[in-house]
Amino acid sequence: MPLKQSEHGHDPVLIATVEKYSKLKKGDTVVDCTLGLGGHSEMFLKKIGPKGTLIAFEQDEDNYKYAINRLKGNKNKHIILKNFVHLHSEIEKRGINGVRLVFFDLGLASTQVDDSKRGFSFLQDGPLDMRFDKRSPVTAEMVLDRLSERNLTKIFRDYGEERYSKKYARIIKRNLPIKTTRQLAKLIEHYAPRDNKKKKKRIHPATKVFQALRIEVNQELEVLKDALEQAISILESGGRLIVISYHSLEDRIVKNIIRNATKDCICPPEILVCSCNHKAEMKIITKKPIVPTDEEIEENPRSRSAKMRVAEKL
Ligand SMILES: C[S@@+](CC[C@H](N)C(=O)[O-])C[C@H]1O[C@@H](n2cnc3c(N)ncnc32)[C@H](O)[C@@H]1O
Repeated sequence: MPLKQSEHGHDPVLIATVEKYSKLKKGDTVVDCTLGLGGHSEMFLKKIGPKGTLIAFEQDEDNYKYAINRLKGNKNKHIILKNFVHLHSEIEKRGINGVRLVFFDLGLASTQVDDSKRGFSFLQDGPLDMRFDKRSPVTAEMVLDRLSERNLTKIFRDYGEERYSKKYARIIKRNLPIKTTRQLAKLIEHYAPRDNKKKKKRIHPATKVFQALRIEVNQELEVLKDALEQAISILESGGRLIVISYHSLEDRIVKNIIRNATKDCICPPEILVCSCNHKAEMKIITKKPIVPTDEEIEENPRSRSAKMRVAEKL
């Protein structure tokens, strides 16, 4: 039975499935790369007991403080206020080895989406910020100001898969300064082509631009690729990698990195004699991604786009 935890402002997605596939035992070592409000970590701590070790990363100071308080009864944990791109060095620094599980639950916690001051949502007005880590120097407003029309087009296309990326980049550059989420959303609503407005099951026309800006501000895709490679390197034999992603760009990266890690050769197909010396390190546990049931989506609508992949170290 999934734990109902909305009293913490964020229901952990696919928690019963994560528990099943993690195969954790008492005394195990787990790394939660996206602590959030600590829902999945709370379950991991129960599974590994007082002799186990939890290492958790969170780059948002508000969530970090919340989770520390939530998990304060447990001494066997290291909670690190850092980007998970520092995974390998932080594990090494602490002399930790024998990791049985590395877990990623990507994206935003509900509390971040719901806080208008963070600037993640176009449904409420707030500053165009979008930083997970408030210490980092670049906000979404700065991205719109500083990037050329051409580079903005590229970001909307590559990180948002936005069909009208060129058009939106042009109107944004002509209407600067844009300082708030509603200002940006209304501008796009105004210029969105009619076909987009007419679509039956249409998404808000600013959805993809907001996704692209968030990915750019937090460099999410580069960081994810790097961290997944590190995750594979720190697992012990039989240890598992579990990743929950929420959009196709993330899921593609997870799928490709896991797939490459299962191959003995990753040379391009035109190379006839292998020169990469790559060796398979992982096996795939879930051939197709696991998605939430209709019941879970009804209870926790934010889980609707979740896809979970699992692989095991050889
Ligand atoms: C979907 S939430 C995780 C929710 C969590 N599993 C729970 O049960 O409460 C994702 C969290 O990961 C954090 N996050 C996203 N990217 C990160 C990164 N590169 N490094 C560290 N934390 C990150 C976000 O700030 C957010 O709090």
